[in-house]
Amino acid sequence: MKPPSWLNLVCSFLNTKKPKENNTKGVNNGTQISKDRGTETKPTSTDETQPSNDRINELKAFDESKAGVKGLADTGPTTIPSIFIRPPEERSKDYSICPKNISVPVIDMKGRDIRTRDIFAKELTEAAKEWGFFQVVNHGIPLDLLQNMIKVTQMFHEQDADAKKPYYNRDYHANTVVYNSNHDLYASNYANWRDTLSINTLFTGGQFNPQDVPPICREVALKYIDELTKLGDYILTLLSIGLGLKPERLGQLECTSGWSLCCHYYPACPQPQLTLGLNGHADMSFFTILLQDQIGGLQILHKNQWVNITPIEGALTFNIGDALRIASNDILSSVFHRVISRSVGPRISIPFFCNGTIASTQMYGPLKELTSKENPPIYREFTLAEFMTFFLTSKLDDVGVNHFKLE
Ligand code: OGA
Ligand code: NI
Repeated sequence: MKPPSWLNLVCSFLNTKKPKENNTKGVNNGTQISKDRGTETKPTSTDETQPSNDRINELKAFDESKAGVKGLADTGPTTIPSIFIRPPEERSKDYSICPKNISVPVIDMKGRDIRTRDIFAKELTEAAKEWGFFQVVNHGIPLDLLQNMIKVTQMFHEQDADAKKPYYNRDYHANTVVYNSNHDLYASNYANWRDTLSINTLFTGGQFNPQDVPPICREVALKYIDELTKLGDYILTLLSIGLGLKPERLGQLECTSGWSLCCHYYPACPQPQLTLGLNGHADMSFFTILLQDQIGGLQILHKNQWVNITPIEGALTFNIGDALRIASNDILSSVFHRVISRSVGPRISIPFFCNGTIASTQMYGPLKELTSKENPPIYREFTLAEFMTFFLTSKLDDVGVNHFKLE
């Protein structure tokens, strides 16, 4: 059967195209963009010239090696190849790093049960409004499962290059399991110092063949996905309560019915100040649950400063994505974040994006319960197919959610 045209569009993007600066996962330069609600400004434009033939050839050679950044790092370079170098004008316009000891809220869910549900709901929702990001400890997922998930991710990436090559591809349509370096390699202004193994089910409504997952991480990843889907559903219940909705309301948006698990590997970088591990962006997901090791490097843009998300052993980091920001009519915040490169490493991080499924027939937009005459909807309605196609195919000049704004 011929896939519908939006699917072709999405897939052709994933194979070849780039969205410009903003919003799509991993494609924003993160400079000069305020995500403080109501003060969103256009990013300063970066170099839009076509890549030179030399650059394209260099990208191709890197891609065809199928060895990723890890393969480069293993050769012990003292400098990074030019394809990874962030333009100097972008570096000089960057926001400063928050000097104070400011951090996102840490929510301790110890003693979580039906009696404490409303308390956690309030705490979590406040953090999601104010910061868009928070860390959770005592969330109920065993520490050894978290540690094993980090361990098997590292083991996958640290296998011989030949063992990983069969998984290396850029065809997210044909494959639910994709290993590559920089999903937007040919499109971005500069490549990031990162490789990724991902399982993506937003096109398949959560379906995938476990046998496609590399054996080295299969058993742990399956267990982890199962636990995270359940935790995600619970968090949605708490956010629903915190927003004054029926407990099952956000769950009805089918946020966890399509997801992506990305197993990122950020090798130590010989010139970390010249590149990034992941460009600034806001997630298009409903929400994201991220597991990171103790190396650090994740930062969020808060009040025009980059704030570090300091790793906490056993914690999971949650953030609100653009889809839930819209559903909440901007009550909840989706904020820009990025990963800086470090001279220490590797760093492992594993975000689980709850994207919903592109096959959903529901209409999305601000929930009626959260709008009124005094608080009218800011966004129009759309299907998830339209939403995802837009985010995955647009060259964006501005904050992506603006495309769905009324007026
Ligand atoms: C992402 C992301 C952060 C990290 O993949 O969208 O924000 O720490 N990752 O890897
Ligand atoms: Ni992200």
